[in-house]
Amino acid sequence: MPKPLPLTQHAHQIIRAHLTPDDYAIDATAGNGHDTVFLARHAAHVFAFDIQKQAIKNTKKRLHDEGFSNKVTLYHRSHQYLAEAIPLQFHQRIKVITFNLGYLPGSDKQIITQAESTLKALGASLQLLAPNGLITLLIYPGHSGGDTEYLSIQHWLSQSSEQLHINIIESARIRPGSPLLYVLQKTTFNNTLDKP
Ligand SMILES: C[S@@+](CC[C@H](N)C(=O)[O-])C[C@H]1O[C@@H](n2cnc3c(N)ncnc32)[C@H](O)[C@@H]1O
Repeated sequence: MPKPLPLTQHAHQIIRAHLTPDDYAIDATAGNGHDTVFLARHAAHVFAFDIQKQAIKNTKKRLHDEGFSNKVTLYHRSHQYLAEAIPLQFHQRIKVITFNLGYLPGSDKQIITQAESTLKALGASLQLLAPNGLITLLIYPGHSGGDTEYLSIQHWLSQSSEQLHINIIESARIRPGSPLLYVLQKTTFNNTLDKP
């Protein structure tokens, strides 16, 4: 039997099917730059955010090494300011926004995404997304602090359900607190994931 894909790769597969080389994308949690490089490979331009200096440095280096520096604008800033930071001309033209929540791997596990700023960033994402645009949201309810963030996101989603088509993908091996991948698509009148 083929090995099930890790959720990070599952998210990439979904994004890959959705992005064209003319599209714009946002990485809301740049971290070590894996997702930023992936988006830069498949989009026209990427806006990437992180609050940690180390994350920005790691992402900058990875982009340089992979030859994508000129396709990415990096912001050392919280994703709650997505809408303020990204020039107006790109608003409602963003095709994909990725969130990979939690802490920076290989760094201080106390510095994690927080429910309050994550929800602000999700709200801003709705303003920035193009019609039918996607948000991929990788959530870690099992991490310290991740459970509170997870519950807040669930509540936010229950209030935003008219604007979003929601698809939840679970880890292959489900244990209490296993990570979850939410794929959210901004709906227009007649469109869903099934009817692009
Ligand atoms: C799991 S890591 C992201 C992994 C990354 N996408 C990659 O491909 O390497 C989560 C990141 O979110 C960042 N973060 C935490 N709070 C944030 C915020 N308010 N705005 C932007 N980034 C934040 C952390 O600093 C950390 O680097």
